[in-house]
Amino acid sequence: MTTAHAAAQPLSGNHIAAGPLTEPPSGRSLLPARAYTGEDEFRAEQRLIFGAGWVWAGYAHWLAEPGAVHPVTVAGQPLLLVLDEQHRIRVFHNSCRHRGMTLTEEPTVVRKRIQCAYHCWSFGLDGKLCAAPFYGRAKGTAVDAELGDRLALVPVAAHVWAGLIFVDLAAADTDPQACAADFTDRLAPLLRRWSHIDFDRLHPIEERRFDVAANWKLVVENFLDFYHLPFIHPQVGPVAAALDIDDLVLRPDIMGGSYPRGAVGKAGKTEKRLPWLGEVPAELRERQDIFCVFPNALLFLEADWFQVIGFDPLAPDRTLEHMAVFVDRTAAGAEYAGTRTQLAEALFAVNEQDLPILRRLQAGRHSPAADATNLVAAWDQITALFQQRVADRANHR
Ligand code: FES
Ligand SMILES: [Fe+2]
Repeated sequence: MTTAHAAAQPLSGNHIAAGPLTEPPSGRSLLPARAYTGEDEFRAEQRLIFGAGWVWAGYAHWLAEPGAVHPVTVAGQPLLLVLDEQHRIRVFHNSCRHRGMTLTEEPTVVRKRIQCAYHCWSFGLDGKLCAAPFYGRAKGTAVDAELGDRLALVPVAAHVWAGLIFVDLAAADTDPQACAADFTDRLAPLLRRWSHIDFDRLHPIEERRFDVAANWKLVVENFLDFYHLPFIHPQVGPVAAALDIDDLVLRPDIMGGSYPRGAVGKAGKTEKRLPWLGEVPAELRERQDIFCVFPNALLFLEADWFQVIGFDPLAPDRTLEHMAVFVDRTAAGAEYAGTRTQLAEALFAVNEQDLPILRRLQAGRHSPAADATNLVAAWDQITALFQQRVADRANHR
């Protein structure tokens, strides 16, 4: 890998992050092509990247009422997202404490207990074992508090922010306060940058799933590729506005960019403006921010809407995206129905345009020439930093 290169200033005056790319290009890919196609590399990333540290696991709106239970998979591990009676989201390993069967593989709503279908052990919404019929062979053998605790579902460190559920499969401490402190520390520079936004006001308007025929890293890299906008998404507006973006690296695991004038310079997505997401100062109302919270939360924020793509890598060449759009809760009524639809459709249309590109980026990784691709210093330092982080975390060499 080449050494860090001083930040350059393009003619437009936009900021380019300091990164590993040199000019002229090195002639070699930073990540080998097999990192996008190989089973071994995929497994290493699942274990070392998705299985350790905070990762996006789902949306809070999937759990609409107490007793809602939603199975997900993170790092190949089955998990259960659960809303308890105090409206708190808890996350458990989706494995019965008796013989390890998954408790459910479909989203469901239970009354008070999650029951295993095999021998009918049941667990409270707090995870504690509360009944195990014929446990001691005798009818009516009760599960006391001690046994209930000992055989409770295994909890996972979790934290909810901006309607997004994050988990850390490697965290030893699953206490909610410890999780909140650790997550807040991890996101601190982004929370500071977005302190004018009130994320408690978010209202989810629409969600769509995209089954993408590409490695998860290509999904992230495409999200961080600001260069392709005028070519693949010409509807976003004039070329000059589409390329008027500053690179931003808030910390090594939060990288992206900001269109300082994006909301006015690029094309409008809706005829009517939506209410701001909080007390947004006038000078920040035009800004569009785009960040990858490493590895799998892709966030796009304007002053009046928030878009998220969270994804699950299913295979080296397959990624399942869950894309959701949020507005302020005061925009939830009938008065804004048309505007909400217009916004969501415009954003989903952009994502649709990327799907064939992603498929072909993946197809190209099977060429021996894919080890000789060239990220360019003027556009791709953020992508290079992302690839460096993947290589460091997953030991790709
Ligand atoms: S495996 Fe769940 S009750 Fe036996
Ligand atoms: Fe795109």
